[in-house]
Amino acid sequence: MTDTLKVTKIAETKINQVDFSNLAFGTVFTDHMFVCEYKNGKWQTPEILPYGPLQMDPSAKVFHYGQAVFEGMKAYKDDNGDIFMFRPEENFNRINKSGERLAMPAFDKEYFFDGLNTLLNLDKDWIKSGEGNSLYIRPFVIATENGVSASPSSEYKFVIICAPAQAYYSGQVKVLFADHYSRSADGGVGYAKAAGNYAAQFYPTELAKEKGYNQVVWTDANTHEYLEEAGTMNVFFRVNDTLITAPTSDRILDGITRKSLIELAKSQGINVEVRPVKVAEIVEAAENGSLKEMFGAGTAAVISPISGFTHKEKAFDLPLVEDAYATKLKKQLTELQANRAEDPFGWRY
Ligand code: COI
Repeated sequence: MTDTLKVTKIAETKINQVDFSNLAFGTVFTDHMFVCEYKNGKWQTPEILPYGPLQMDPSAKVFHYGQAVFEGMKAYKDDNGDIFMFRPEENFNRINKSGERLAMPAFDKEYFFDGLNTLLNLDKDWIKSGEGNSLYIRPFVIATENGVSASPSSEYKFVIICAPAQAYYSGQVKVLFADHYSRSADGGVGYAKAAGNYAAQFYPTELAKEKGYNQVVWTDANTHEYLEEAGTMNVFFRVNDTLITAPTSDRILDGITRKSLIELAKSQGINVEVRPVKVAEIVEAAENGSLKEMFGAGTAAVISPISGFTHKEKAFDLPLVEDAYATKLKKQLTELQANRAEDPFGWRY
């Protein structure tokens, strides 16, 4: 621990009030949080504090211009009680990449890891071992300078909060291929984990939910002919025995689960194609029976099989196939993450 981290512990834990067998995703938070302020051109002494409200002026820029970015990461506990994170450096790099796009200052690597390690050690009882259990970690940065002039803030808060988690999606996931609204544009912020990217999806996703879909799979804004990503996860398609996913770009999030799965699948001898995916080819593959699987991949979603999709009023069912790649890859990934299997890639931290 650096001598610059200030720790204030809670008086009494809330853990006994929590039903760990029945957790709605991201609704219950641990005892502590990490907070670091940026002002006068630098990050100030980081602190661990009891989890609680943040006080801000109503004119703080985040409320008016949405200058905010975030990350999603997870910690796991093995049967010996040891705690692991999965490729956390990737999240650290990405939050700074997202921040750069929103004109925010880069965060300090030592503060990040020191804060995270101390926070997880303090709240380790909140991390449960066993399949499907994890601690969802949500780092975020918000613009806190007072005043509504439309310009980048000169003050920020970098905060980390943690929520014990189980599955993000339970049950079937049905998706709608977008043919009107879009999520991102060339030269835009689609690759960043900017808060506004998610808010902008809520309305079209609500319209899709009213029709019985869980998620929209976004298509390119210009032609709606290419499949890109879903709102909370990247998307993979299995046509015959080939796994296909769209390349990342300035419109698509560089998902850490996505890139890990590409490597895991290749290491299992699965043929993987990273290339633009045409809506028409997936519809045709569904029609001729060569589309075997579709699944989403993300930190919160892990690997979520998609049981059906609709494009322009045409609906297709995708019953789970035997020896599904989604099942096989999920097992391999989650066992590696929770130290129940070897880690030949060096991803565990
Ligand atoms: C994650 O998977 O961590 C995400 O950020 C998706 C989130 C919007 C639930």
